[in-house]
Amino acid sequence: MRESGRPIFAANWKMNKGPPETAEFVRRFRDRLDPSEERTTVFFPPAVSLGAFREAAAGRPDLELGVQDVHEVESGAHTGAIAARMAAGAGATWGLAGHSERRREFGDDDARVAAKVQRLLEAGLRPVLCVGETLKEREEGALRAVLARQVSAVAPALSRDERSLLVFAYEPVWAIGTGRSASGEDVAEAHEILRAEIAGVAGDELARGTAILYGGSVKPDNTAGLLDAPGVDGVLVGGASLDPESFARICESAGAR
Ligand code: PGA
Repeated sequence: MRESGRPIFAANWKMNKGPPETAEFVRRFRDRLDPSEERTTVFFPPAVSLGAFREAAAGRPDLELGVQDVHEVESGAHTGAIAARMAAGAGATWGLAGHSERRREFGDDDARVAAKVQRLLEAGLRPVLCVGETLKEREEGALRAVLARQVSAVAPALSRDERSLLVFAYEPVWAIGTGRSASGEDVAEAHEILRAEIAGVAGDELARGTAILYGGSVKPDNTAGLLDAPGVDGVLVGGASLDPESFARICESAGAR
């Protein structure tokens, strides 16, 4: 855990929960979990549900809001796409970039991911840059090379202030949605490599202060162990964030450690 940091619990709902389900989730979640200084909690609902989330979470500023994806240009003739500034206008203060599902299904390559991070920053959103290797890359011993490539595609172009806003999420592709979470040792190793790569671009001090989340089959019963792994500053949760009780239990791991 970073010296100054409190753990970040991020919920990535992917293509789940339209406005009514979002409002229902928030209603149940806010009843279930009181605000706490001990954690940062961020939800990434589908873009069409940002407004419903904001409305349902009124009076609970601890329930922060993010957008799952934005287009890499500011505006224009891009049917169906969402610009970072629009997401900000809808109440988002965070944004994901580089999620492996976007990279795989929508062709988001490193250059596009870098452009999306720029757009998020310009719109005043805090980017969570997802990185991670496929099983094949891991088996080929390419973990360090993959992380180095994904970091160097984005970080060098940013100013020091911009870099200080960046949060990373280490998400090994083989652990996402598979029920097979990475072990504490695997996560610690990858986070150390990632932090060294960040230090190479941004310097030691900034790297030490950068939050790196882990994502991939995080559940209520493995969260505390993952947060105990050296260098883990929070979790990015997919499937287990869809149920208010399950995500509340994950968030409570902050106090249980
Ligand atoms: P999962 O997804 O928790 O369902 O494995 C994590 C993610 O893709 O961010």
